[in-house]
Amino acid sequence: MQSSDFGNDFLWGVATAAAQIEGAANDYGKGPSIWDTFSKRTGKIKKGHQPTLACDFYHRYLEDIALVKTLGFKVFRFSIAWARIFPLGHGSINPEGVAFYHRVIDECLMQDLVPMVTLYHWDLPEALSKEGGWTAFGINSWFNEYVTFCAKEYGDKVKQWIVINEPFGFTSLGYMLGVHAPGQTGVNNFFDAALHTAIAQADGAKILRAEVSSAVIGTAFSCSEVVPYTQSAQDLLAAKRTDALMNRFFFEPVLGLGFPTSDWEVLEKFAISHSTWRHQERMKFDFDFIGLQNYFPLVIRYNAFIPILQAWEAKAKNRKVPHTAMGWEINADSFYRIIKQFASYPQVKSIMVTENGAAFHDKVIDGKIDDRERIEYFEAYLSAMLKAKNEGINITGYLAWTLMDNFEWAEGYQARFGLVHNDFKTQQRTIKQSGYWWQQFLSK
Ligand code: BGC
Repeated sequence: MQSSDFGNDFLWGVATAAAQIEGAANDYGKGPSIWDTFSKRTGKIKKGHQPTLACDFYHRYLEDIALVKTLGFKVFRFSIAWARIFPLGHGSINPEGVAFYHRVIDECLMQDLVPMVTLYHWDLPEALSKEGGWTAFGINSWFNEYVTFCAKEYGDKVKQWIVINEPFGFTSLGYMLGVHAPGQTGVNNFFDAALHTAIAQADGAKILRAEVSSAVIGTAFSCSEVVPYTQSAQDLLAAKRTDALMNRFFFEPVLGLGFPTSDWEVLEKFAISHSTWRHQERMKFDFDFIGLQNYFPLVIRYNAFIPILQAWEAKAKNRKVPHTAMGWEINADSFYRIIKQFASYPQVKSIMVTENGAAFHDKVIDGKIDDRERIEYFEAYLSAMLKAKNEGINITGYLAWTLMDNFEWAEGYQARFGLVHNDFKTQQRTIKQSGYWWQQFLSK
């Protein structure tokens, strides 16, 4: 397998996110985000790590964009920190923040890289969180003000856009389970946040369509094949509920199908209480591409003790299957199947894999960062993707997660997903063997 097997127009890139790499969290006019405040709460992030400095990308973006180029990628995906543009979430603008993203975009263009912008990758301005954040009724107009600004400001130079990164990820972890920022819990918070997010992803896309000529617009979903633990009726139903929640919940509304309520009465109650049918048209958008992000399959068993979902994961480690340092199952066949699952909807025009990658305990051997497990991972996952592509699925690109080791949310700096090693004490970047593997792969 070589990269040219995917065709000459295939978009190979790396993905990053502002809160995970930028640092300068309190500098140059930026307002605090929910991750800045959440990480200060005791016990929320492993080892008490905070994103204040992260990879210091704010000051080192030239070096980092040069690395993207050195590794041979065409696309650099990064996100805009909402609170760097609007320190209070809406209203007055921070010119220094606006200028920073111009510098990043201009450098990409100088290096002949395609800048791909994610508008929301989880770092809501804290000022908006105080008003209720994604659960608040006002969030849709605040978000639209922010998107309109970015589209007008950067739309001449940026054509590739992702509206929201993994709506299920941040609404479930941040508003239901409380393990991500802003640390809220409860099913009511989740459903309120979910409805506003489903509206925002289509609203944002419509604004981009209106403001940016020849924009290529996508939005990115967390996609995990859901496998029942056994063929018992209870496990099968538990898997079906989990699939509705984790894969279909935010995806089907953009296709015009509304929320997937028919398979699960809890979702039906949500639909009734929130009159979601009133928003069905607004939640719909004809995306140019669907961003598919895959990290693991989920093996699901019935569990009566788990409220509402009544399902729980049979962890990879307990099933003794290969897994990453995060404990996530490595299974390239499952990647192939989830691509097929998302592509099976006739409304989907194309799929771009906007994130895929793995954390390992990288070793230093003979002065080199020997991460052969990551190389094997990419080899297996790329050939699974090639199989899907050769069967006729319109896959337009693949973005590896991620350029360099960074602030991995609640895991802090411990989980390393990078193709480039980062020494967080010195900010020294060292290309890992997997980075060199990509360089080779992309040269052919
Ligand atoms: C997120 C990334 C994150 C990665 C690995 C994805 O869900 O978009 O921000 O670092 O998973 O956990």
